[in-house]
Amino acid sequence: MNVTIDLKKAETYFKEEDFKVSREKAGMALSRFLTMEDHEKVLGWVSPAILDDELEAIKAKAEEIKREGDLFVLVGVGGSNQAARAMIEALADGKGPEILYMGNTLSPYSVSKMLKRMEGRNVYINVIAKNFETLEPGSHFRILRQWMKKRYDREEMAKRIIVTGTKGSRLEGIAKENGYLFLSFPTSVGGRYSAFSPVCLLPIAAAGLDPDMYLAGMKRAAEDCRANPSSNPAVLYGAARNLLYERGYDIEMLVSFEPRYSYLTKWWVQLFGESEGKEKKGIFPSSAIYSEDLHSIGQYMQEGRRSLMETFVSAENPGAEAVIAPDPDFRDGFDYLNGMDFDQINKAAEEATLNAHWRGGVPCIRFLSKNISEETFGELFYYFMMACGISGTMMNINPFDQEGVEEYKRSMFSALGKKV
Ligand code: PA5
Repeated sequence: MNVTIDLKKAETYFKEEDFKVSREKAGMALSRFLTMEDHEKVLGWVSPAILDDELEAIKAKAEEIKREGDLFVLVGVGGSNQAARAMIEALADGKGPEILYMGNTLSPYSVSKMLKRMEGRNVYINVIAKNFETLEPGSHFRILRQWMKKRYDREEMAKRIIVTGTKGSRLEGIAKENGYLFLSFPTSVGGRYSAFSPVCLLPIAAAGLDPDMYLAGMKRAAEDCRANPSSNPAVLYGAARNLLYERGYDIEMLVSFEPRYSYLTKWWVQLFGESEGKEKKGIFPSSAIYSEDLHSIGQYMQEGRRSLMETFVSAENPGAEAVIAPDPDFRDGFDYLNGMDFDQINKAAEEATLNAHWRGGVPCIRFLSKNISEETFGELFYYFMMACGISGTMMNINPFDQEGVEEYKRSMFSALGKKV
């Protein structure tokens, strides 16, 4: 496997026999996901089936976007954009068009700034909305359509607008009426579990990433879960964090010394926050990117309230070198770094932090990825999604709904005069 888990610095916080029990429960939850009939239709992500035809359509459209477009606008919020953004921010290397993110805010400043950035550019847009009622993507789609109508004729618009939604939705209706490419948002997959559907596949392919490598990573992790039901990273992680939760550790920080993982941590916060925070239960998820955040949150991690656990995501090979050469003329006091690569320095800082936090009373878990690539993102996303399903099941909540989110929407829609 390219992604492994290390629990050594968490295991000292619980007894081996308790972990055994927790692991059995986690394994049972996993087995249920793998074998149960999905009456509620929420498990479409467990063995995602990407239809060959749809994958070919996605690849063909992505090639066209890379060839002809220089700006790709990804319209979506929550689970409808986070996975793609996590990968694009980590991996896009100028192999595709510039990516703009819209449909994720209600700020007039942001909307007008984005529209200004689109001026004079060759624009493609992908609107992603599962139920097509969410305010942010719906309102942005309207503004974008109007913006495009002033610049492109009907045929050009049809070429440049791609929509991803559920079959039978009004979004599909709009696509059909106007000739837009329609990609499916499977009904049996919730937004935050949509990483292996067209929701993520088109944007990453348009950004120049390799969807085949990505899906290969997902398949490897899925096979690992089937072949090793009690020792794969999803089960071990789910078991450990639940045991820690039972022992009063109810805040979890996902941290990394790799800023390329900034949006992975955001994706993770959304996945776990929206899945677990229910019925007055759940581990509160937060995140930090070190070493920068060591100069802020690092103090709290070391000496604040002891209800925190910390999960590190590390990459063995960061994908670049940056060596510090001697500079004798300046006598700047940093000669101890002479000849060192930043990777060596970053890893030393990571080890030191992990040890200090662990000694200071923070159980630390570590995911170790061989590199930062499409393939390892496929593995990480799959393990985290599976662990989230497992954790929610162990907490006795439904990790696949988000009733609480509907609450603010009801009062917002009523304030805005939406008729229901
Ligand atoms: O994970 C989820 O289910 C949510 O975060 C949704 O993805 C988010 O609310 C966007 O929903 P929609 O795609 O229907 O606009």
